[in-house]
Amino acid sequence: MKESYTLAELKNWDAKGKSPVRLGVFGDPVAHSLSPQMQNAALENVGLKERYGRFQIGAEELETGLELIRHLNFVGINLTLPHKTGALPLMTEVDEPARKSGAINTVLVEGEKLLGFNTDGPGFLHAIRTEFSVDLRDLRVLLLGAGGGAGRAIAMQCALENCERLVLVNRTLEKAQDLAKELAPYFAGSRVLGPVARLQAVPWDETSLRFQLANTDLVVNATSVGMKRSDPPLFPASLLAPHLMVYDTIYTPERTPLLAAAAGAGALGANGLSMLLHQGALSFEIWFGRKAPLDVMRAALL
Ligand code: ATR
Repeated sequence: MKESYTLAELKNWDAKGKSPVRLGVFGDPVAHSLSPQMQNAALENVGLKERYGRFQIGAEELETGLELIRHLNFVGINLTLPHKTGALPLMTEVDEPARKSGAINTVLVEGEKLLGFNTDGPGFLHAIRTEFSVDLRDLRVLLLGAGGGAGRAIAMQCALENCERLVLVNRTLEKAQDLAKELAPYFAGSRVLGPVARLQAVPWDETSLRFQLANTDLVVNATSVGMKRSDPPLFPASLLAPHLMVYDTIYTPERTPLLAAAAGAGALGANGLSMLLHQGALSFEIWFGRKAPLDVMRAALL
């Protein structure tokens, strides 16, 4: 199987005999995606003949790409950057997490229909449960990067779970404020938490983070800060305390600077591999209507 395919190749898909690739991920860039190794291991394990490929598809090619897979007897696809929001209006129907977060990461081809789903939020929910043996609904969550696609999906899941408390932090504060307005109805109920608000958008500065972290159980990084060696720390490590759980949606490097800081402070930490695993397993279940072989998929990622 090739490393990645282009739209031109998709246009001539079965020209050289029928390809087993009937699943894949559309993205730009897409070369780094670990989904093929995880999904192909699952497909082989359960004895399915379909295979999963990478498709280098730019934003302006998305509509054509989706139209092609609809007629090529594809099972479905995943969408990654920059397609998650752009795909929404191209779907025949979408599920609740997709509609509410305004983003899609999974498409199921059903006859003439394209059905859109979002398994990022539910994948995050599963990841928190398996990493920390706690339920999101019982947690006070501080989310860094509430303005991005991953951040929105996580925030929406926190709202759907009606978690104890949600603090939205974003470099561009207005985006966090807009999201807080949107999520306000979910937090209108009366959980008594004392002096702190259940839902807040706060500026990204040391003073407000110090105050908020004292009233937080779970810190989540949904920005891409920490992927590059040259990235500065998200915030001073001295703000971390042993009572915190720290989840970094980044998984390369495996031990991110935030997770190193968490370990140094005696806090629990986990990287984004579990979210990748669980969102992928949920996609598999949407495509095939059967349980995904989680252990096989996890082993393929490691
Ligand atoms: P996405 O596709 O998820 O939108 P993104 O463009 O990398 O990916 O942005 C994700 C989040 O990372 C955003 O919340 C973004 O903050 P802004 O809304 O202010 O742009 C955040 N982000 C990216 N680079 C950042 C940095 N250097 N410092 C802080 N936040 C950053």
